[in-house]
Amino acid sequence: MTPELMRTRGAALRSRGGDAPGTEGSGGRAAGYGRRVQAGELDLAHGTILYLEDITVSFDGFKALNALSLDIRAGELRCIIGPNGAGKTTMMDVITGKTRPDAGRAFFGSTIDLLRLRENEIARAGIGRKFQKPTVFEQLTVFENLELALKADRGVRAAMAFTLSGEQADRIGAMLELIHLKASAAQVAGSLSHGQKQWLEIGLLLMQDPKLLLLDEPVAGMTDEETERTAELFLSLEGSHSLVVVEHDMKFIAELTRAVRPDAPAKKVTVLHEGRVLAEGPLAQVQANEQVIEVYLGR
Ligand SMILES: Nc1ncnc2c1ncn2[C@@H]1O[C@H](COP(=O)(O)OP(=O)(O)OP(=O)(O)O)[C@@H](O)[C@H]1O
Ligand SMILES: [Mg+2]
Repeated sequence: MTPELMRTRGAALRSRGGDAPGTEGSGGRAAGYGRRVQAGELDLAHGTILYLEDITVSFDGFKALNALSLDIRAGELRCIIGPNGAGKTTMMDVITGKTRPDAGRAFFGSTIDLLRLRENEIARAGIGRKFQKPTVFEQLTVFENLELALKADRGVRAAMAFTLSGEQADRIGAMLELIHLKASAAQVAGSLSHGQKQWLEIGLLLMQDPKLLLLDEPVAGMTDEETERTAELFLSLEGSHSLVVVEHDMKFIAELTRAVRPDAPAKKVTVLHEGRVLAEGPLAQVQANEQVIEVYLGR
């Protein structure tokens, strides 16, 4: 499928996503210019979806993050690279509330203080995270996995009584296409390839309608073809979602940072090293940076 086609399908999915359960009072679907934002609602009026300032995390005196600052724009697809131990996963742990920093500030939109929220509250506010290892329900079919993601947050009793509306079934159908699993809808998730499981997990995340997606090494272990399709998928989400993608696969990074429109400004890549930003800018620029070559890319 071409990126253009996928983008169209993504838009169709989004327009149908307005009644997704579990996102009430958050997610900021309608938040934006020209209307007042309510407390706890995502406020994107200033264009920033994620703001980290001087975040420091110490483990027994060792600074895994050392005054890390980061600014992600709404709709941006930001790639983060850097050597092992640079603090990339720790940064995601801070954003999702898994790890509390010793110092610094972290905001989702301009009003939601992430350091005051618990993990489940952060997820409900609209931040979805994909871990490296896929976590899907292996015994259920692909379709049932997505159905369950729709029912999430309803509680057991409500989930059992829940029947899919036509609109919700359509939404699952559109998601199956987006994640390239239409032909495998009736297949048990445990029998999928590693790459397909990763896509299913991304689909499960997307069913919750997150505004910001954090993806930690999403193409690790994928075949070249699966990696290319994953890049297409992420590019189709750009704009409607904000994505922070951590990867070591530079070919994948090059694909993600490629301009989808000729007039689009170059996407930024952030290089983390020793818990802070070493360099940030268009891929070609960070690839030519002497320090980046020294600590990460090699000669
Ligand atoms: N819970 C913890 N306790 C002690 N040290 C930790 C903990 N979590 C992370 N670290 C250390 O913090 C540093 C940053 O780790 P982190 O996992 O964030 O790196 P990373 O950039 O994600 O690396 P990789 O590319 O290998 O995934 C490492 O030195 C790691 O050993
Ligand atoms: Mg990591």
